[in-house]
Formats: sequence, structure tokens, C-alpha cells
Amino acid sequence: MEHDIKIALTGFMGVGKSSVARHLSMMLGCERLDLDALIEACEQKKIVEIIDGGTIEDFREIETRNLKKALAESNFRILSLGGGTWTIPENRSLIKDHGLVTVWLETTFDHCWFNIVNSKKERPLARNKRAARKLFNERQEVYCLADWHFIVKPESTSYDVAKQILEEIFSCNK
Ligand code: S3P
Repeated sequence: MEHDIKIALTGFMGVGKSSVARHLSMMLGCERLDLDALIEACEQKKIVEIIDGGTIEDFREIETRNLKKALAESNFRILSLGGGTWTIPENRSLIKDHGLVTVWLETTFDHCWFNIVNSKKERPLARNKRAARKLFNERQEVYCLADWHFIVKPESTSYDVAKQILEEIFSCNK
């Protein structure tokens, strides 16, 4: 098993980054960090309050600041990013410079939208289907820059996806 690999999970809202990260950290018996959760804990505000109360640029600055904090921590091996984190060039450089392997969880817009609509998490950038689809389409070429791509089929569970990542990236069969 590869013992020193750290990964960052990226992909559109609703693809299941946090759930896959949770399964992976359980399978590997390692720590994980969720960037949105870190932002909410450090800023003492919900993501939705930050975005609705300011500009999206303000949020991106806060996100980058917290990404730096996250990367400075050494005790996690799985980092789940927010859906927009990887789209910012500075964030991509930071993640690469820290040696993380990036994983794009790729799926269709309809699958993400289904999960968004059925999730309790409030997503200020996905309140409107048309706007969310536009964002989805615009981001594909940037998500594509990730080191690994895993296709998430609507019928596959986050457990299945985590297991596939474990086998292919961590060379581990559990
Ligand atoms: C965002 C995705 C969200 C959160 C914020 C902005 C985005 O995270 O970071 O609402 O720009 O796609 P999830 O992808 O976990 O929903």
C-alpha cells in the first residue's frame, strides 16, 4: 500500500466529494479534512452566509486562506475541496506545490443536480438550475486538469467510488 500519498478530491457540487472522502478515510484509517467545514469553523459562519453576505470574490479569498491553513496541517491524507476551489489557479498551484494527488470525481450535470436538490446542504451557487448547468459546463475543462479522473455513475455509491480510488491510487485491496 502507498503510505505517503495525500489526495485532494475535486468535482462539481453534489458529486459526493465529502461522502467519498469519509469512506476513504475510514478504509485507510486516516484523517480527512473538509475545506468547507474548515471554512465554517474558522470563520464562525456558514458558507451560505459568507457568499450571500459578500461577493463571490470575498468568498474565494477566504477559501484560499483556509486552503493554505489546511495544507499547512500534516495529519490528514484526504482533503475534500469545495466545488470551486480547484477552478482558481492559485489554489491549483498551492495544492500541487504541497504534493497532493488530485482526483476529479466526474459525473453528469443531471446526477449532480439530483443530489443538490435532494441534499440538506444549502448551495448558494446552485439555486437556479440554468445557472448551475452553465457553471458545470464552464468548469469541465478545469476539473480535467486533475491528475486522476474517476467516473461516478448514478448507480454507484460513494463507498464504491472510495473503494475504486483505494485500489487504483493507493494500490490497496480491502
Ligand atoms: C462551491 C461549492 C460548495 C461551496 C461553495 C461554493 C462552488 O462546496 O464551497 O458553496 O463554487 O462550487 P460543495 O462542492 O461541497 O457543494
